[in-house]
Amino acid sequence: MCGIVGAISKDRNVLPILITGLKNLEYRGYDSAGVAYLKNKKINIVKTSGKIINLENKLNKNDKSNIGIAHTRWATHGKATSINAHPHSVKHITIVHNGIIENYEEIKDMLEKENYSFKSSTDTEVACALLNYYYEEFRDVDRTIKEFMKKIIGSYAIVMIIDNDLDNIYVLKKESPLVIGISDNTNIVASDIRAIVKYTNKYYILNDFEYAKVNTNDVIIKSVNGDILSKELHTINLEEIDNSKGHYKHYMLKEIMEQNKTILRTVLSFIEDGIDSLSKLPDLTKYKEIYIVGCGTAYHAGLVAKYLFEEITNTKCNVYLASEFRYQNNFLSKDTLTIFISQSGETADTISSLKLVKSKGYPTLGIINVDNSTISYLVDKCLYTKAGSEIAVASTKAYTAQIALLSVLVLSHGLRNKTISEDYVLKVIDQFKNIDNLISPLLDDKDLYLSIAKKIYKEKDIFYIGRGLDYYLSMEGALKLKEISYIHSEAYSAGELKHGTISLIEKSTPVISSATNTKLNAKTISNLEEVLARGADIYLITDDNYKDKSFTIINIPKVSIFIKPILVIIPYQLIAYYTALLKGTDIDKPKNLAKSVTVE
Ligand code: F6R
Repeated sequence: MCGIVGAISKDRNVLPILITGLKNLEYRGYDSAGVAYLKNKKINIVKTSGKIINLENKLNKNDKSNIGIAHTRWATHGKATSINAHPHSVKHITIVHNGIIENYEEIKDMLEKENYSFKSSTDTEVACALLNYYYEEFRDVDRTIKEFMKKIIGSYAIVMIIDNDLDNIYVLKKESPLVIGISDNTNIVASDIRAIVKYTNKYYILNDFEYAKVNTNDVIIKSVNGDILSKELHTINLEEIDNSKGHYKHYMLKEIMEQNKTILRTVLSFIEDGIDSLSKLPDLTKYKEIYIVGCGTAYHAGLVAKYLFEEITNTKCNVYLASEFRYQNNFLSKDTLTIFISQSGETADTISSLKLVKSKGYPTLGIINVDNSTISYLVDKCLYTKAGSEIAVASTKAYTAQIALLSVLVLSHGLRNKTISEDYVLKVIDQFKNIDNLISPLLDDKDLYLSIAKKIYKEKDIFYIGRGLDYYLSMEGALKLKEISYIHSEAYSAGELKHGTISLIEKSTPVISSATNTKLNAKTISNLEEVLARGADIYLITDDNYKDKSFTIINIPKVSIFIKPILVIIPYQLIAYYTALLKGTDIDKPKNLAKSVTVE
C-alpha cells in the first residue's frame, strides 16, 4: 500500500521527518520510494525503486530543506521503476498520490491534445498534469482544486507543492485517508498517523472532497466549494498504534503473543457490566438475513460468525469474498444487513463491495481495526476491533479480535431474538473475561509447536481438515502456513477428502486438523484414520481425549463454542510461525504480499 508524508517547518530540516515517516509506513508494503524538497531555491526530486534505504543512500547527506513531500509506492499503473515512483512533477506542480484515478486515460487524451507529454505510465502523473493545466488557466489554487475534484473519478489523497508558492503545502482528499499533524512551527501531513506520531500527537482528519493549505503557522481546511471549515483537533492514542517489536524477533510473534490482551480489550465495553452492556451493540432483529463480506483472513472470520449466527441464533447468514461479491447478483434488500470485515479498512475489493451496497441504499456495518480508514468512513455504523497496530503482513491478533467482536454481536442478537438464555450468555461472558488464563498456556507451549515445525518444514504439501466450525478454522490455519512458510497448504472439509483430495496423501504427508465438536468429532476422527492408513502424519487440536491414537495431539480446554475458535487458532498460528522460522523466510513481510491490498 502506498504511503504519504509531507512536512513544512519554520526552523527544522524536514528531510529526516519525511524519511522517518516513510519508515513508519514501511510495514504496509511498497516497491519504490521518492522525495521532493527545496534545494538551491528549486524543487529537487530523488526517486528509486526498492527499499527506503536505497532512497536514503541516493540523497545528498548535506541537503537540508524546510519543505518536502515523500512517498512509498505499491505499483498499480506501471511497473515498480524509479520513473513511475512518486513524486511526479509537471511544470509548476509536484505531487505524491495515494489512490486510483479511474478516468486517467480520458484525461491523458485531453491533455495530450493540449501538448502535454508524459514520462511515466502512472495515473498520478496525469493527475499532476491536470492540476498544472487548471493552475495555468486560473492562476488560483482554490479554483484549480475545485475543478480538479470535479473532473476526477476515483480516489485520492494528494499532497501538492507549487513552485511559485513554496510557503505552503496543499493536501486534497477523496476516499483515501489523510491527516494533518500539528506541532510548534512544523506541520506534517500523512496518509496514516503512524507517520507523524514521533513529532506530534495532535492532528486533523480530512474528509472526502476537502482540501487544506498547510504552512508553518496555520492549517486552513476548506470544502470543495472553498468554504473554510472548522475541524476537531484529535489526539493520538499511543497504545493503539504501538509500532515497536519489543523483545520479539518478529512482529508476527509479538502480535500472536498480544492476543491475551487484545481480545478482551476488543469486547470489554460490551461485557463489563454483564448482559446490560451487550445492549450497546446494534439491534439486528430487524433484518431477515445477514451478509458478511471480506477478503482473506477477514473472510475467514466471517465464516466463523456465519456458523455462530446460524447455529446459535437461528439467523441466516451468507459470507462472501469481496472480490466475488462486487460482481455477482447478491439479492440484497432493505431487510439484509451487510457486514464488512477488514483489519486495514482499506482493502480495495471490500471498499468496492461496500460502495455497491451503499449505492442501493441498503444498510451496512463495519468491523474494522484501523480507525479513520476508508471503510470506517463509508459504513452506516462502525464497530472497532481494538487489536492495535498489526504490522506483520499475516493477520493474527486482528483475526481473533474480529471473532471476539462478532461473537458478542451474535450473543446480543441471540438475547434479542430469544434463541439463547441470559444464563448461557453470562457463562460465555465469564470465559471472555478469563481469556488470558485460557490462552496463555497455549501461547506458551513453544516446544510443542517447534517440535511439529521440525517435522513439517521440509514438506511440499500440507493438508488442513475439519468439519463445521473446525473446517472454517482449518482454512485460516492453512492460509497462515502458506503465506509465511511458502509451503503449499490447503484446507478441506474432512468429508470431502474421499471425493478427490485423498489421492494426494502419501507416506509422511502432514495432515493437520481440529476436532472440537462433540457431534462431529467421531466423523472427523474416521477421516483422519483414513489418511493415517495411507501413510499421513496426523496433528490434531482437540478438546476431547484421543490419547490412544497415533496422532500428535494438542489439547485445548473445553470451553464455549464462542471461545473455541480462539483457542484452536493459536496453535495454528504458532505452528505456521515456527515452520517459517525454520525455513528462514521473511516472516513479517512475505514475498509478493502487502499488508493492505488497495488494488483490485
Ligand atoms: C492474511 C491476511 C490477508 C488479509 C486480507 C484482508 O494473513 O492478512 O488475507 O486478511 O488481505 O485485509 P483486510 O482485513 O485489511 O481487509
